[in-house]
Amino acid sequence: MQKKEIEKFYIKKIIDLKKYDKAYFENDNPIISDQDYDKLKREILDLEKKYKYLKNENSPSIKVGYKPSDKFKKVAHDVPMLSLSNAFSKENIKDFLKKIRNFLNIKDSEEIVFSAEPKIDGISASLKYLDGIFTLGLSRGDGKTGEDITNNLKTIQDIPKKIQKPNFPKVLDVRGEVYISKLDFKKITKQFANPRNAAGGSLRQKDPNETKKIPLKFVAYGFGIVEPKNFKKQSEYLELLKEWGFNTNSLNKLVSTIEEIEKNHKEIENQRLNIDYDLDGLVYKVDSIELQNRLGSVSNSPRWAIAHKFSSEKGFSIIKNIEIQVGRTGALTPVAKIEPINVGGVVVSNATLHNEDEINRKDIRVGDTVCIQRAGDVIPQVLYVDKRKRNKNGKKFKFPDKCPSCGSKTVKEFNYTTKKKDAVTRCPDLKFNCREILKEKLKHFVSKEALNIDGFGKKIIQNFWDLNMIKYPSDIFNLNFKKISNLDGWGDLSASNLEKSIKKSQKISLDKLIFAIGIRHIGQENAKILAKYFLNIKKFEELFNKEKRKKILNHLIELDGIGETQIKSLETFFSSSSNLNTVSNLIKKLNVTDYKTSKSGIFYGKAIMFTGGLSKMSRAEAKVLVEKEGGKVLGTASKKLDYLVVGDSKPTPKKIEKAEQLKIKILDENNWYALLNRRASIN
Ligand code: IVH
Repeated sequence: MQKKEIEKFYIKKIIDLKKYDKAYFENDNPIISDQDYDKLKREILDLEKKYKYLKNENSPSIKVGYKPSDKFKKVAHDVPMLSLSNAFSKENIKDFLKKIRNFLNIKDSEEIVFSAEPKIDGISASLKYLDGIFTLGLSRGDGKTGEDITNNLKTIQDIPKKIQKPNFPKVLDVRGEVYISKLDFKKITKQFANPRNAAGGSLRQKDPNETKKIPLKFVAYGFGIVEPKNFKKQSEYLELLKEWGFNTNSLNKLVSTIEEIEKNHKEIENQRLNIDYDLDGLVYKVDSIELQNRLGSVSNSPRWAIAHKFSSEKGFSIIKNIEIQVGRTGALTPVAKIEPINVGGVVVSNATLHNEDEINRKDIRVGDTVCIQRAGDVIPQVLYVDKRKRNKNGKKFKFPDKCPSCGSKTVKEFNYTTKKKDAVTRCPDLKFNCREILKEKLKHFVSKEALNIDGFGKKIIQNFWDLNMIKYPSDIFNLNFKKISNLDGWGDLSASNLEKSIKKSQKISLDKLIFAIGIRHIGQENAKILAKYFLNIKKFEELFNKEKRKKILNHLIELDGIGETQIKSLETFFSSSSNLNTVSNLIKKLNVTDYKTSKSGIFYGKAIMFTGGLSKMSRAEAKVLVEKEGGKVLGTASKKLDYLVVGDSKPTPKKIEKAEQLKIKILDENNWYALLNRRASIN
């Protein structure tokens, strides 16, 4: 057969497979027998094996099962399933340890113990037990809501279905990892690209009998809701899990110094190949649950835990071209397009070059042979150039001085915090009309942390953008779904699913909306601070009016966490009439709900300011506590203040003086702890 014919032959099979998948998964109505389906799948895989160039993203070896979105019931987690931030080096770990000490205000001489646990690369699951009976099993989903996969989880032998132990809590949500051993994976390797995909694909089968066919395992390591909580340490909990009949990892260990952490990391990394499951690093968790609670979390990851990834994999390739990508904030990122190579099981064809300085420092040129490093899920990077292999005619790369998208002259901003010029080259986008930036803003707008429009990914944005169907966020709510259903790759069902997800996203809380707009320097945390100030959309809309904006911005500077940078950015953003149009058109399409603040806390409606260091907690922790209790923390003394808390260590006399003048209640450290009513737990 000719290459063209082979391709045609292959594509026809893929189209058939898609049709059968749709019938089975979406319509619950198989139109082909299991045997014939398996045969077709095998034929496709054999073709791909023989003609390597055929493999593409629709291949059943890459695609895991079928998008299950409507297959399982969605259920909210009682306690969100967070994710972890990553550490790749000793420095990252040192930072992590330091941040914890700073937050808790604990001296270096005091020991903090960590539970070091191997991080199995599988699929996390939550198992809820009521009176010892396994009642509800959920996937992680988006962290807030998961899919009800109880029946599939029940097929896993490692998961106890009934626990009759006197010390088993009345309500317990056991969290852990579903995975497949390397040995078992070898037996079924034909269907899936790697063990993680196998575990995920199998867990999402509609028919539990299908899940049962794949030998899944479960290891427990965490908890969600627990009532009553009869343990004080993570390590104690891990011991209890064993007693209750769960598998825990035999390599779990307690560590405390950076030396112990490094040693353990090296040891386990060395054993990695002999371990019968895929490991991608270690997880460190502060062992004391009380300290965990004090530390809390930022955005989606806890302050008390981190994933320490194993070192990356490397490979060599040739740079075919260097392209410049323009990001949402105007940052110009150089990306090396390389000859595709397989680095540790993943095909890499792009590597980030970070910025102009990095290219100059490493002297990276088109045509160079370079060492590529890939670590976990981070973007691959160029480690160094093999200069022996350089072509004499290779020219130095000239970084563009104009935005490749809109032609504006690029800038490097002055960073007021570091007092240096930024390494990042930016498109200043003074008129807020750079097309590439607009497109990236749309991607941000639909993302998980913003509007969270299910099934509306970057690829679809690109597709609709290319077809001129969307330019501004409000366009998303004017899409013509009839037209979409006729587009290539779409159908009635997928178009109507998208319509449903978009409709659902129209109800949004004020903080999410502020974040979704994508104002420079206003991330998730700042968006929350602003939402807490504005409380409702009406008040937020006052920013659109020049006079009112001036007043508001003067007030905003008093908020702890909002600085000059944010104020300037808000001013620039809302001074643009095109931005005002974009945002008000958007708001018209949405139902923005008020920001919910705790109305019961001891600081509800109160404004508090701190001066001087506190001895039993850091300023950051004090701030979290005030906010948890419904209050706000201000950065300057004004009449709006209710309390000034004066810490023992180096308070500012001027602030105290001002507070006295304004007749604001002044608290010393002891008054503060008494007010918190937390003395017992802090001591
Ligand atoms: S703790 C807040 N412990 O890693 C704590 N996670 O990026 C969150 N994982 O989704 C998880 N082994 O799928 C934790 N011993 C372990 C783990 C572990 C594997 C996975 C899990 C989670 C991801 C975090």
